[in-house]
Amino acid sequence: MEHKDNKKGEVYLVGAGPGDADLLTLRAYQLLHQSDVVLYDNLVSEAVIALIPDAVEKIYVGKQKSRHTLPQDQINALLVRLAEEGKRVLRLKGGDPFIFGRGGEEIETLSQHGIPFQVVPGVTAASGVAAYAGIPLTHRDHAQACVFVAGHLKDDSIDLDWSMLARPNQTIVVYMGLEGLSTICTHLIAHGLSDHTPVAVVQQGTLPEQRVIIGVLKTIAPQVVEAKLKSPSLVIVGGVVNLHTTLKWFLS
Ligand SMILES: C[S@@+](CC[C@H](N)C(=O)[O-])C[C@H]1O[C@@H](n2cnc3c(N)ncnc32)[C@H](O)[C@@H]1O
Repeated sequence: MEHKDNKKGEVYLVGAGPGDADLLTLRAYQLLHQSDVVLYDNLVSEAVIALIPDAVEKIYVGKQKSRHTLPQDQINALLVRLAEEGKRVLRLKGGDPFIFGRGGEEIETLSQHGIPFQVVPGVTAASGVAAYAGIPLTHRDHAQACVFVAGHLKDDSIDLDWSMLARPNQTIVVYMGLEGLSTICTHLIAHGLSDHTPVAVVQQGTLPEQRVIIGVLKTIAPQVVEAKLKSPSLVIVGGVVNLHTTLKWFLS
């Protein structure tokens, strides 16, 4: 694609997928080869970073829950500055930029500054990680609905609609739910889910380091502590988790 405007650059907000570089979209791959600079954060896997051509400048802007390498407003300002210098800037984010990725905030700033942008969806952790763990998120016999929630702790509590989550025949996918796992399980049981509801916690899904811990609401929090699971990990709750035993295929 031609870079049409010499004065003002353009920003590509691109999803990098959950880790396995083969899950990058063709569009993302093409844009990596048409960019001047790539800004990436800590969730983008080394395998994906290795696909960035040598001639393209790479800027790590980090971002971990409690260790913001570059605060969000500075990332937004950097995107604006680089684009105003006339650069084609690719903002590479783990998973899908519009799912718990602050992609909306970044392009709002671009829109306010009149900077042209494109958005390229990525495979979100829920889809990628569940697929590689052999857990179909919906299944006619087990779940007719699936909800994605962010489970991070804020002031030691988690603000979620627990009655809506504790419904039968529904899969719950919790992003950023590792630290608050015990609280999440307690709330789900208190709002009506059986303490024997199956739960999977998947660390570094889709990567060769993938680990899957299976338990039930009553047991999973201590199991995860015992297994020393760390971030990034995704929590999947519901009857579909039982299918992992027969449908697991990756690293098996
Ligand atoms: C800030 S959210 C970003 C989500 C991202 N935008 C997406 O669509 O996947 C980060 C959380 O995504 C989940 N996650 C991302 N990649 C993962 C992976 N490869 N394995 C397990 N969980 C992952 C974890 O729950 C992690 O804490």
